[in-house]
Amino acid sequence: MPRVLLLECSPNDLASPGGQLAREMARRIHPKAEVIVRNLVREPLPPLCADYAQAVVGKSDCADEHFTLSEQLIGELESSHYLLISTPMHNYMVPAALKLWLDYVVRIDRSFRIEDGQRIGLLEDRPTFVVLSSGGHYLGARTKQMDFLSPYLRHVLGIVGLHHVEYIHLQGLADGEEAVAAALQQARERLSFNPVFAPEPFPDVLL
Ligand SMILES: Cc1cc2nc3c(=O)[nH]c(=O)nc-3n(C[C@H](O)[C@H](O)[C@H](O)COP(=O)(O)O)c2cc1C
Repeated sequence: MPRVLLLECSPNDLASPGGQLAREMARRIHPKAEVIVRNLVREPLPPLCADYAQAVVGKSDCADEHFTLSEQLIGELESSHYLLISTPMHNYMVPAALKLWLDYVVRIDRSFRIEDGQRIGLLEDRPTFVVLSSGGHYLGARTKQMDFLSPYLRHVLGIVGLHHVEYIHLQGLADGEEAVAAALQQARERLSFNPVFAPEPFPDVLL
């Protein structure tokens, strides 16, 4: 059975439209997929500490619990066939909760190494989908702001070897319920052309 790692990064928890879509996508990969949900807001990761930071920079292991957590998070990713990330845009960037997950997972000589000045990802590539929710627009005719999130996340996932990354953009969600419904419908239509996802939506699925 496929294993899916679902990262949820919204403070709006179950009310997040992007979160709802991502949970639906997980089930559409396979109805019996094993879905590992890591809600980075409900269960926040601890801030980095000096021992962990020194171990990372010094490229050594350490007995610190932060290091154990880093191993656990990387292990979750390694053992998943698919990665789904549902994230809001916060100040044109990834929210702090997702940034912290990256700081635990993107670790030199564990998830990437540097050889002749080149960064080489050490994780196996796998289909990765990012549902990106924003109040405003950063793509298309109604663009009014910068998007540092998508190029940054694509870059940093690529560092560890995840290159097969697709974005599902839910833009303009601050415009009200109709805008949310339209963004979700547009996203579902686009997903219906993607062979990874079963054509039938499973709108009532809550993990
Ligand atoms: C702290 C904070 C910063 C935000 N920054 C942006 C932003 O830079 N651009 C934008 O379009 N929306 C911004 N928003 C709005 C959210 O992206 C928007 O409400 C989105 O729909 C939230 O999705 P969620 O329900 O999945 O969390 C911000 C919201 C918060 C709380």
